[in-house]
Amino acid sequence: MDKDSKIYVAGHRGMVGSAIVRELEQQGYTNIVTRTHGELDLCRQADVERFFAEEKPEYVIDAAALVGGIKANSERPAEFMYVNMQIQQNLIWAAFESGVKKFLFLSSACMYPKECPQPMKEEYLLTGLPEVTNEGYALAKICGSRLCSYINREYGREFISAIPANSYGIGDSFDPEHSHVIPALLMKYHRAKQNGDKKVVLWGTGTAKREFINNRDIASACIFLLENYSSAEPINVGTGEEVTIMELSQMIKRITGYEGDIVTDPTKPDGMMRRICDNSRIFELGWKAEVSLEDGIKELDKFYLNFGGLTNGKNDVEGCNT
Ligand SMILES: NC(=O)c1ccc[n+]([C@@H]2O[C@H](COP(=O)([O-])OP(=O)(O)OC[C@H]3O[C@@H](n4cnc5c(N)ncnc54)[C@H](OP(=O)(O)O)[C@@H]3O)[C@@H](O)[C@H]2O)c1
Repeated sequence: MDKDSKIYVAGHRGMVGSAIVRELEQQGYTNIVTRTHGELDLCRQADVERFFAEEKPEYVIDAAALVGGIKANSERPAEFMYVNMQIQQNLIWAAFESGVKKFLFLSSACMYPKECPQPMKEEYLLTGLPEVTNEGYALAKICGSRLCSYINREYGREFISAIPANSYGIGDSFDPEHSHVIPALLMKYHRAKQNGDKKVVLWGTGTAKREFINNRDIASACIFLLENYSSAEPINVGTGEEVTIMELSQMIKRITGYEGDIVTDPTKPDGMMRRICDNSRIFELGWKAEVSLEDGIKELDKFYLNFGGLTNGKNDVEGCNT
């Protein structure tokens, strides 16, 4: 990939897409093409085909998707499946037909079976059913990833897919309906501090383990993969570091300056007790994550406070394993 190669980042205003654009610019890439949702609705096949015919991007990173927390996913599986199938099929096929040199599809660790052995290796995909609460989203992601693999094998074209671990970072959603666990906990501790609450209740036992990757690291991995990976096999993108929900909570409590207690509620679900990716494949290629969880959360905390301060919404994401 040359510094002036034409690179289209789909979903460039999203949490991951915006980090990818910043990283491309920082690495000196000068020819980045973007369209907002308003300018190009990726669910509209004819518009997507026209865009590719006119712009002729050489490289594509697909970070556009309908993404949400456990509540939105479990209440609206039809939308999560339909919209994501539409976006990815339109993008992948238009890129294929218009001669794109390399296409990177961002899928999700939600694709792995609910009962997957841990850590999750790429070969465990499709060995069982995904978690029911995000099944519509997961099935769409499986199809997108598989479509890239089929094009890669059938036509020898470099259509690849990456499976990021749970992501967080600047640009994260603080909408109670859509937020993931880290922004939800940040909001929760800020709210407790503001209200002078003596304790914060954490759903579950706090012993479940998760892996989180900062969006800056996903961005660097995406560029690394475009430069160094061509296989039809999807590839995990994580940090290799796991943290318990209690450790995460204590870290966020410290960062927000909340001084009350954390109390667990073991009657509420933990979700899977351990859910982390096996990142051997990408590590062996020479990539590694750079942003520590603590530094990444401090950065996100500043973003949250500058971005809009406190909301008085209620979030529902405790125990969320997406
Ligand atoms: N966040 C995570 O923890 C995580 C983890 C693993 C993988 N991923 C994957 O990474 C990708 C990006 O996720 P994200 O967290 O960055 O999501 P996000 O912040 O919600 O961003 C998604 C982007 O897609 C755009 N989009 C949605 N529907 C569109 C449409 N019909 N036409 C055009 N643009 C559309 C959105 O624009 P509007 O907002 O204007 O609609 C938004 O800019 C997704 O594929 C996701 O599956 C995310």
